[in-house]
Amino acid sequence: MAASDISAGLSGDPDRDPQLGHVVVSEAELRQRIAELGKQITDDYRDDVPLFVGVLKGAFLFMSDLARAVDLPVEFDFMAVSSYGSATKTSGIVRIVKDLDLELTGRRVVVIEDIVDSGLTLNYLLKNLATRDPASLDVCALLVKEGQQKVEPPLRYVGFRIPEDFVVGYGLDVAERYRNLPYICTYRG
Ligand code: IMP
Repeated sequence: MAASDISAGLSGDPDRDPQLGHVVVSEAELRQRIAELGKQITDDYRDDVPLFVGVLKGAFLFMSDLARAVDLPVEFDFMAVSSYGSATKTSGIVRIVKDLDLELTGRRVVVIEDIVDSGLTLNYLLKNLATRDPASLDVCALLVKEGQQKVEPPLRYVGFRIPEDFVVGYGLDVAERYRNLPYICTYRG
């Protein structure tokens, strides 16, 4: 079955998890947009070796697909952060659970983020990473929730601007569930 058919058929699937709502970004849309982002990054960083910093856990699928769409000698590292707040809203107070293994001094860093909602998590991370003297510091965010930002972190690359609904899939979770859905959909819970 073609990728677009999978998403199109979901709402009529009686076995589908009733907590899941409509598809916001289909598998085919993800594939196409990630290929475009990969080309753009390849052009922008030609003759460089960018360092992709993936923000765990949400960005793990996006980073792996984006990595394969970039035709450059990229290096990779990961950070894990935990945000304090309610189940579906962050407070902006962020704890670094796993720090980077690599030094950033003189590196051209691209932070790979799953979703920007209030912008507080990313804002905190960028301030922290900027103190480590990278040669450049850019962000590639898969999703940005339209009109929700309390702070506006600089976003060089954006996959999709989406409405404010809480979404899951393609790395995004509720209590660690749904990360392996190959598309992004709303969560009704
Ligand atoms: P922010 O600090 O409000 O921008 O929130 C960013 C973080 O909250 C993201 O990295 C996600 O981990 C989480 N988050 C925000 N919105 C959603 C959502 O709709 N689904 C799943 N996680 C979300």
